[in-house]
Amino acid sequence: MKAVLVLLVSTAWTFTGAQYYYQGLMDYLENRLLAIEDRMQFWHEQSHRYYSEMQDFKKVTAKVMGELRNEHSMLFKDLEGTAARVDRTEREMDYVEAQTSPRACAKKADKVVEQGPGGLEESRGEAEEEDWEELHSRVSDCVEIISGIRSVKILKRVGSPKGMWTRDPRSSKVYVFNGTKGDSVHQFDSVRDLSRSPGLAHSRRISLPDEWSGPGSAVYNGYLYYIKQEAGVEVQVVKYDLLSGSVTDTAMFPVDSQAAVYNLNPETVADLAADDEGLWLLYAPGDSEPNINLAKMDPATLDIEQIWDTRCPRENAEAAFVVCGAVYVVYNTRLASRSRVQCVFDVNDMVISEEAPLLYFPRRYGAHTSLKYNPEEKQLYGWDDGYQIIYRLTMKRKLLV
Ligand SMILES: *[C@@H]1O[C@H](CO)[C@@H](O)[C@H](O)[C@H]1NC(C)=O
Repeated sequence: MKAVLVLLVSTAWTFTGAQYYYQGLMDYLENRLLAIEDRMQFWHEQSHRYYSEMQDFKKVTAKVMGELRNEHSMLFKDLEGTAARVDRTEREMDYVEAQTSPRACAKKADKVVEQGPGGLEESRGEAEEEDWEELHSRVSDCVEIISGIRSVKILKRVGSPKGMWTRDPRSSKVYVFNGTKGDSVHQFDSVRDLSRSPGLAHSRRISLPDEWSGPGSAVYNGYLYYIKQEAGVEVQVVKYDLLSGSVTDTAMFPVDSQAAVYNLNPETVADLAADDEGLWLLYAPGDSEPNINLAKMDPATLDIEQIWDTRCPRENAEAAFVVCGAVYVVYNTRLASRSRVQCVFDVNDMVISEEAPLLYFPRRYGAHTSLKYNPEEKQLYGWDDGYQIIYRLTMKRKLLV
């Protein structure tokens, strides 16, 4: 009995002890949970704060980015404006240069020598006055001057960086003079034919009896006119019949000079231009002579009919061409920039300086080696760093007609 009582009492003790134990555990867990809740609350608040800070930061950066973008576009506009201004200033400077240079404007016909029955005789000053009417009616009946460049076509790139090409207005055949001298010429049936051709090897090659010198030849009405310059022999103009394949005439140069006509293209010994008006020869009268001279020749016989000092300087000249009895000299700089017509000389004295255009060629690859005018199409065949380029011109009537 006593043993049973002891057991009961001890069981009751144990029970009460367990109850206390569980109660403690519950309290502990409850406290932990509360602590975790607190922490969660804290983290939640923290992340919310971060989030709103992020939002603020985003807003600020967006604003700054927007401002930067604005500034960038403003800078870009400024740069564009500056580029345009530089371009305009460049043109204005060129123009001012053209206006103030005593030589770079349209020239009055200045006939310095005339071939009379007794040979060459001087005719200056008063004689010029009397010759005027005669010049007017005799030299050229053409009434147009160039007013601008309408369009440019880059046709092809064949041959070496320097060369010349031209189209016979009468036959439409195209002739390519590759390089700066040679004893052959490449013939194509048309501009289209050249454009489609894979290269010069696929042309008809015409072998000449002697070498042409410089990119200054001319082709007109089935005849090829070229400059022949051999060591120890005076420079000659040769007329070659493309149909029969033979030389039909040769003529000595008007002066005994080996000087190149354009200062920027030393290979151009002299430059020929042929059209209905006749055969024109541009040449340098001597090494120390600053100006380009012009001779008018009879295309049939190669007789020299008249000679003029164009008063257009050879210095910085790269090419020239003849339109309607007026010589347009194209200038550039030694480091090639924009080619421009900056000197016009009219044999009829009809292009006055206000009319003479200051004509800019679009900036292209390098500089022109040659520019050949085709009177039927009113376009120029240019050779620029191996590219064959066609410039279409716009014309206007001369004022004093
Ligand atoms: C063109 O001329 C250059 C040298 O001036 C030469 O190297 C080249 O072979 C020529 N091209 C043709 C097709 O004759």
